[in-house]
Amino acid sequence: MLTLQLSEWPSISEVPSPGCPNEVLQKAFFVRSLVFCGEQGIGYALEYDGLDAEAIHILGRVGEEPVASGRIRFPGKHAKLERIAVRAPWRGKGYGHQLTAFMIQAAEARGFARQKIHAQAHLQAFYAVHGFRALGEPFMEAGIEHVLMQRGFPAG
Ligand SMILES: CC(C)(COP(=O)(O)OP(=O)(O)OC[C@H]1O[C@@H](n2cnc3c(N)ncnc32)[C@H](O)[C@@H]1OP(=O)(O)O)[C@@H](O)C(=O)NCCC(=O)NCCS
Repeated sequence: MLTLQLSEWPSISEVPSPGCPNEVLQKAFFVRSLVFCGEQGIGYALEYDGLDAEAIHILGRVGEEPVASGRIRFPGKHAKLERIAVRAPWRGKGYGHQLTAFMIQAAEARGFARQKIHAQAHLQAFYAVHGFRALGEPFMEAGIEHVLMQRGFPAG
């Protein structure tokens, strides 16, 4: 069973303890490093782009094992869902969909009914399940073909 937890950026004076933001972040970064840097070959500077402090972070665990990650930023009047990942051995169990639904709910709970994703192009059907629609032409990001997808925006 996947347990999802959400965290703000930790305060610098935080005393580390189980479940605290420092621990959540460290484990979410572990997942991101394995999936995006290790598996997909994305370099450190692109993956850790200096925007993590303005985001909220999501960690998914199975037992004590960190298996899923995500982050949400709020760069305007919409939320941007990013760094959605499930470690390879845990894929195909519904965790990716559970994580995406959790992130949408977290954005909505903060008053952001409109959300965007730069989706890896082959995952359009995956995000469409959650009501995301592709917009415009595919583009390259981090050497991978992406497409802008959004939900909650007026159609047209
Ligand atoms: C995308 C990802 C999060 C899905 O996680 P998951 O736990 O396997 O997802 P689920 O088990 O909930 O759902 C699997 C679905 O994703 C689809 N999917 C997974 N990987 C896919 C791929 N490479 N190409 C196309 N579809 C894919 C499956 O076909 C399946 O479809 P369904 O909705 O009809 O069942 C995971 O594959 C991953 O971390 N990939 C690498 C990181 C990445 O690319 N992240 C997305 C950035 S935009």
